[in-house]
Amino acid sequence: MKIKKAVIPAAGWGTRFLPITKGIPKEMIPIIDKPVLSYIVEEAHQSGIEEIVFIVSEHKECIKTYFGENKALEEFLTHKNNDKDLAMIKQTGFGMKFHYVIQKEQLGLGHAILQAKELIGNEPFAILLGDDVYYSDIKPALKQIIDLFGQKNSSVLGTMEVPMDQTSKYGICKPKHIDDEGVMELEGVVEKPKINAPSRYAISGRYVLTPTIFKYLETQNQGAQGEIQLTDAILRMMSEEKVYAYNMIGKRYDTGSKIGYLEAIIDYTLRNEELKESFRNLLREKL
Ligand code: UTP
Repeated sequence: MKIKKAVIPAAGWGTRFLPITKGIPKEMIPIIDKPVLSYIVEEAHQSGIEEIVFIVSEHKECIKTYFGENKALEEFLTHKNNDKDLAMIKQTGFGMKFHYVIQKEQLGLGHAILQAKELIGNEPFAILLGDDVYYSDIKPALKQIIDLFGQKNSSVLGTMEVPMDQTSKYGICKPKHIDDEGVMELEGVVEKPKINAPSRYAISGRYVLTPTIFKYLETQNQGAQGEIQLTDAILRMMSEEKVYAYNMIGKRYDTGSKIGYLEAIIDYTLRNEELKESFRNLLREKL
Protein backbone atom coordinates (compact mmCIF):
# COMPACT_ATOMS: atom_id res chain seq x y z
CA MET A 1 0.00 0.00 0.00
CA LYS A 2 1.42 3.40 -0.97
CA ILE A 3 2.19 5.76 1.91
CA LYS A 4 0.65 9.06 0.83
CA LYS A 5 0.15 10.94 4.08
CA ALA A 6 2.62 12.21 6.65
CA VAL A 7 2.23 13.89 10.02
CA ILE A 8 4.75 16.54 11.05
CA PRO A 9 4.38 17.44 14.72
CA ALA A 10 5.55 21.02 15.26
CA ALA A 11 3.58 22.18 18.28
CA GLY A 12 6.26 21.88 20.98
CA TRP A 13 7.49 24.85 23.01
CA GLY A 14 11.12 24.40 21.93
CA THR A 15 12.47 25.19 25.39
CA ARG A 16 15.99 24.07 24.45
CA PHE A 17 16.10 26.95 22.02
CA LEU A 18 14.73 29.78 24.16
CA PRO A 19 14.55 32.75 23.95
CA ILE A 20 14.14 32.76 20.11
CA THR A 21 11.32 30.20 20.40
CA LYS A 22 9.29 32.69 22.43
CA GLY A 23 8.68 34.51 19.14
CA ILE A 24 9.67 32.12 16.33
CA PRO A 25 8.97 28.36 16.22
CA LYS A 26 12.19 26.33 16.22
CA GLU A 27 10.83 24.55 13.14
CA MET A 28 10.93 27.88 11.28
CA ILE A 29 14.47 29.05 12.04
CA PRO A 30 16.55 29.17 8.84
CA ILE A 31 19.26 26.88 7.53
CA ILE A 32 20.76 29.40 5.06
CA ASP A 33 17.61 30.72 3.37
CA LYS A 34 14.94 28.10 4.07
CA PRO A 35 13.30 27.14 7.36
CA VAL A 36 14.14 23.80 8.99
CA LEU A 37 10.66 22.54 8.07
CA SER A 38 11.28 23.14 4.38
CA TYR A 39 14.07 20.53 4.35
CA ILE A 40 11.77 18.06 6.13
CA VAL A 41 8.83 18.70 3.79
CA GLU A 42 11.15 18.29 0.81
CA GLU A 43 12.30 14.90 2.14
CA ALA A 44 8.64 13.86 2.50
CA HIS A 45 7.95 14.98 -1.08
CA GLN A 46 10.98 13.07 -2.39
CA SER A 47 9.73 10.01 -0.50
CA GLY A 48 6.41 10.02 -2.36
CA ILE A 49 4.25 11.76 0.27
CA GLU A 50 1.39 13.81 -1.22
CA GLU A 51 -0.39 15.17 1.84
CA ILE A 52 0.98 16.61 5.07
CA VAL A 53 -0.79 17.09 8.38
CA PHE A 54 1.04 19.67 10.49
CA ILE A 55 0.35 19.58 14.20
CA VAL A 56 0.82 23.14 15.39
CA SER A 57 0.08 25.35 18.38
CA GLU A 58 -1.80 28.63 18.25
CA HIS A 59 1.45 30.59 18.07
CA LYS A 60 2.67 28.99 14.86
CA GLU A 61 0.72 30.82 12.14
CA CYS A 62 3.99 31.53 10.26
CA ILE A 63 4.21 27.84 9.26
CA LYS A 64 0.95 28.19 7.33
CA THR A 65 2.14 31.47 5.83
CA TYR A 66 5.37 29.90 4.55
CA PHE A 67 3.82 26.82 2.91
CA GLY A 68 0.72 28.60 1.61
CA GLU A 69 0.07 31.15 -1.14
CA ASN A 70 1.07 34.80 -0.77
CA LYS A 71 -0.94 36.65 -3.41
CA ALA A 72 0.37 40.12 -2.51
CA LEU A 73 4.01 39.02 -2.79
CA GLU A 74 3.25 37.20 -6.06
CA GLU A 75 1.69 40.37 -7.49
CA PHE A 76 4.65 42.45 -6.33
CA LEU A 77 7.19 40.11 -7.98
CA THR A 78 5.09 39.89 -11.16
CA HIS A 79 4.98 43.67 -11.33
CA LYS A 80 8.79 43.76 -10.99
CA ASN A 81 9.18 41.06 -13.69
CA ASN A 82 11.07 39.01 -11.14
CA ASP A 83 10.23 35.59 -12.58
CA LYS A 84 13.00 33.75 -10.74
CA ASP A 85 11.85 34.72 -7.24
CA LEU A 86 8.22 34.31 -8.26
CA ALA A 87 8.83 30.70 -9.30
CA MET A 88 10.76 30.11 -6.07
CA ILE A 89 8.08 31.40 -3.68
CA LYS A 90 5.38 29.43 -5.52
CA GLN A 91 7.37 26.24 -4.93
CA THR A 92 7.69 26.37 -1.13
CA GLY A 93 4.88 23.82 -0.81
CA PHE A 94 6.31 21.42 -3.46
CA GLY A 95 2.78 21.09 -4.90
CA MET A 96 1.64 19.10 -1.87
CA LYS A 97 -1.61 19.33 0.09
CA PHE A 98 -1.34 20.74 3.64
CA HIS A 99 -3.59 20.51 6.69
CA TYR A 100 -3.10 22.23 10.04
CA VAL A 101 -4.41 20.82 13.30
CA ILE A 102 -4.00 22.71 16.55
CA GLN A 103 -2.72 20.83 19.58
CA LYS A 104 -4.24 22.93 22.35
CA GLU A 105 -2.00 21.64 25.14
CA GLN A 106 1.56 20.39 24.69
CA LEU A 107 1.02 17.02 26.36
CA GLY A 108 3.73 15.18 24.42
CA LEU A 109 4.57 13.64 21.05
CA GLY A 110 2.03 10.81 21.36
CA HIS A 111 -0.73 13.32 22.08
CA ALA A 112 0.41 15.44 19.11
CA ILE A 113 0.15 12.47 16.71
CA LEU A 114 -3.30 11.56 18.05
CA GLN A 115 -4.56 14.97 16.81
CA ALA A 116 -4.07 13.73 13.21
CA LYS A 117 -6.38 10.71 13.63
CA GLU A 118 -9.36 12.05 11.63
CA LEU A 119 -7.24 13.32 8.75
CA ILE A 120 -5.18 10.13 8.47
CA GLY A 121 -8.16 7.77 8.61
CA ASN A 122 -7.62 4.06 8.21
CA GLU A 123 -4.36 3.96 6.28
CA PRO A 124 -0.67 3.60 7.15
CA PHE A 125 1.15 6.92 7.38
CA ALA A 126 4.55 8.46 7.99
CA ILE A 127 5.78 10.73 10.77
CA LEU A 128 8.67 13.17 10.43
CA LEU A 129 9.59 15.11 13.57
CA GLY A 130 9.57 18.84 12.91
CA ASP A 131 13.08 19.46 14.18
CA ASP A 132 14.95 16.41 12.87
CA VAL A 133 16.61 17.08 9.52
CA TYR A 134 18.09 14.16 7.56
CA TYR A 135 20.59 14.45 4.75
CA SER A 136 21.17 11.46 2.49
CA ASP A 137 22.67 11.43 -0.97
CA ILE A 138 21.59 7.81 -1.54
CA LYS A 139 17.88 7.71 -0.77
CA PRO A 140 15.81 10.03 1.48
CA ALA A 141 15.73 8.67 5.05
CA LEU A 142 11.93 8.42 5.06
CA LYS A 143 11.91 6.60 1.71
CA GLN A 144 14.26 3.97 3.17
CA ILE A 145 11.69 2.99 5.80
CA ILE A 146 8.71 3.43 3.45
CA ASP A 147 10.33 0.84 1.16
CA LEU A 148 10.76 -1.49 4.15
CA PHE A 149 7.13 -1.02 5.09
CA GLY A 150 6.31 -2.16 1.54
CA GLN A 151 8.28 -5.38 2.12
CA LYS A 152 7.10 -6.18 5.65
CA ASN A 153 3.61 -4.68 5.63
CA SER A 154 4.24 -3.70 9.26
CA SER A 155 5.22 -0.53 11.10
CA VAL A 156 8.87 0.53 10.77
CA LEU A 157 10.82 2.89 13.06
CA GLY A 158 13.78 4.79 11.64
CA THR A 159 16.73 4.49 14.01
CA MET A 160 20.37 5.46 14.44
CA GLU A 161 23.11 4.09 16.68
CA VAL A 162 24.03 6.32 19.61
CA PRO A 163 26.74 5.94 22.31
CA MET A 164 25.51 4.05 25.40
CA ASP A 165 25.83 7.18 27.58
CA GLN A 166 23.37 9.00 25.28
CA THR A 167 20.62 6.38 25.33
CA SER A 168 18.69 8.13 28.14
CA LYS A 169 17.81 10.95 25.70
CA TYR A 170 15.99 8.75 23.16
CA GLY A 171 13.39 6.06 22.60
CA ILE A 172 15.50 2.87 22.50
CA CYS A 173 14.70 -0.34 20.61
CA LYS A 174 14.98 -3.88 21.90
CA PRO A 175 15.62 -6.09 18.86
CA LYS A 176 14.49 -9.72 18.81
CA HIS A 177 16.22 -10.54 15.56
CA ILE A 178 18.43 -8.60 13.10
CA ASP A 179 18.62 -9.90 9.51
CA ASP A 180 21.55 -9.68 7.07
CA GLU A 181 20.30 -6.33 5.73
CA GLY A 182 20.21 -4.87 9.23
CA VAL A 183 16.42 -4.95 9.51
CA MET A 184 15.42 -5.45 13.16
CA GLU A 185 12.30 -7.20 14.31
CA LEU A 186 11.54 -5.65 17.69
CA GLU A 187 10.36 -7.15 20.94
CA GLY A 188 10.25 -3.87 22.81
CA VAL A 189 10.89 -0.13 22.89
CA VAL A 190 11.55 2.05 25.90
CA GLU A 191 11.42 5.86 26.10
CA LYS A 192 14.44 7.56 27.67
CA PRO A 193 15.72 4.59 29.72
CA LYS A 194 17.50 5.85 32.86
CA ILE A 195 19.45 2.60 33.27
CA ASN A 196 19.99 -0.67 31.37
CA ALA A 197 19.12 0.51 27.86
CA PRO A 198 18.31 -2.62 25.82
CA SER A 199 20.50 -1.50 22.88
CA ARG A 200 22.13 1.55 21.29
CA TYR A 201 19.45 1.77 18.54
CA ALA A 202 17.65 5.09 19.07
CA ILE A 203 14.41 6.07 17.34
CA SER A 204 15.40 9.12 15.38
CA GLY A 205 12.57 11.18 14.01
CA ARG A 206 11.12 9.03 11.23
CA TYR A 207 8.32 6.46 11.50
CA VAL A 208 5.93 4.57 9.24
CA LEU A 209 3.00 3.33 11.32
CA THR A 210 -0.22 1.46 10.74
CA PRO A 211 -3.40 3.26 11.88
CA THR A 212 -3.66 0.73 14.73
CA ILE A 213 -1.47 3.17 16.66
CA PHE A 214 -4.40 5.56 17.19
CA LYS A 215 -6.28 2.99 19.27
CA TYR A 216 -3.32 2.81 21.66
CA LEU A 217 -2.68 6.57 21.68
CA GLU A 218 -6.28 7.18 22.74
CA THR A 219 -5.72 5.25 25.96
CA GLN A 220 -2.08 6.12 26.54
CA ASN A 221 -1.12 7.38 30.00
CA GLN A 222 1.68 9.81 30.71
CA GLY A 223 5.17 8.32 30.65
CA ALA A 224 8.73 9.69 30.75
CA GLN A 225 8.87 13.41 31.65
CA GLY A 226 5.13 13.35 32.40
CA GLU A 227 4.33 13.35 28.64
CA ILE A 228 2.08 11.12 26.53
CA GLN A 229 4.82 9.25 24.69
CA LEU A 230 4.48 7.78 21.20
CA THR A 231 7.07 5.14 22.14
CA ASP A 232 4.84 3.80 24.95
CA ALA A 233 1.89 3.42 22.55
CA ILE A 234 4.15 1.63 20.01
CA LEU A 235 5.21 -0.81 22.75
CA ARG A 236 1.58 -1.62 23.54
CA MET A 237 0.79 -1.97 19.81
CA MET A 238 3.48 -4.70 19.61
CA SER A 239 1.15 -7.07 21.47
CA GLU A 240 -1.03 -7.00 18.34
CA GLU A 241 1.30 -6.31 15.40
CA LYS A 242 4.93 -6.76 14.45
CA VAL A 243 7.10 -3.65 14.51
CA TYR A 244 10.46 -3.35 12.74
CA ALA A 245 13.34 -0.87 12.96
CA TYR A 246 16.11 0.09 10.60
CA ASN A 247 19.24 2.25 10.95
CA MET A 248 18.64 4.79 8.21
CA ILE A 249 21.62 5.70 6.05
CA GLY A 250 22.32 9.42 6.21
CA LYS A 251 23.28 12.24 8.51
CA ARG A 252 20.78 13.43 11.11
CA TYR A 253 20.71 16.94 12.56
CA ASP A 254 18.79 17.63 15.77
CA THR A 255 18.02 21.26 14.92
CA GLY A 256 16.03 21.58 18.15
CA SER A 257 19.37 21.74 19.99
CA LYS A 258 21.70 24.69 19.49
CA ILE A 259 24.75 22.62 18.58
CA GLY A 260 22.77 20.38 16.19
CA TYR A 261 21.42 23.48 14.50
CA LEU A 262 24.89 25.00 14.11
CA GLU A 263 26.20 21.76 12.61
CA ALA A 264 23.35 21.78 10.10
CA ILE A 265 24.21 25.32 9.03
CA ILE A 266 27.88 24.43 8.54
CA ASP A 267 27.20 21.21 6.59
CA TYR A 268 24.44 22.63 4.38
CA THR A 269 26.55 25.70 3.55
CA LEU A 270 29.53 23.48 2.68
CA ARG A 271 27.20 21.57 0.30
CA ASN A 272 25.76 24.73 -1.28
CA GLU A 273 27.23 25.29 -4.79
CA GLU A 274 26.97 29.06 -4.60
CA LEU A 275 28.39 29.48 -1.09
CA LYS A 276 30.72 26.57 -0.38
CA GLU A 277 33.94 28.11 -1.72
CA SER A 278 33.66 31.43 0.08
CA PHE A 279 32.33 29.76 3.23
CA ARG A 280 35.28 27.35 3.28
CA ASN A 281 37.68 30.30 3.01
CA LEU A 282 35.82 32.12 5.74
CA LEU A 283 36.04 29.13 8.06
CA ARG A 284 39.77 28.73 7.37
CA GLU A 285 40.31 32.38 8.20
CA LYS A 286 38.34 32.16 11.45
CA LEU A 287 39.95 28.94 12.64
P1 UTP B 1 10.69 17.73 21.13
O1 UTP B 1 10.67 17.09 22.45
O2 UTP B 1 11.99 17.85 20.41
O3 UTP B 1 10.04 19.19 21.15
O4 UTP B 1 9.61 17.03 20.21
P2 UTP B 1 9.88 20.25 22.28
O5 UTP B 1 9.11 19.72 23.44
O6 UTP B 1 9.36 21.48 21.60
O7 UTP B 1 11.42 20.49 22.64
P3 UTP B 1 12.16 21.10 23.89
O8 UTP B 1 12.74 19.91 24.59
O9 UTP B 1 11.16 21.89 24.72
O10 UTP B 1 13.21 21.97 23.31
C1 UTP B 1 9.82 16.57 18.87
C2 UTP B 1 8.81 17.19 17.91
O11 UTP B 1 7.48 16.99 18.39
C3 UTP B 1 6.78 18.21 18.52
C4 UTP B 1 7.86 19.30 18.58
O12 UTP B 1 7.37 20.52 18.02
C5 UTP B 1 9.01 18.71 17.78
O13 UTP B 1 8.92 19.05 16.40
N1 UTP B 1 5.90 18.18 19.70
C6 UTP B 1 6.39 17.86 20.93
C7 UTP B 1 4.55 18.48 19.55
O14 UTP B 1 4.08 18.75 18.42
N2 UTP B 1 3.75 18.46 20.63
C8 UTP B 1 4.19 18.14 21.88
O15 UTP B 1 3.38 18.14 22.85
C9 UTP B 1 5.56 17.84 22.02
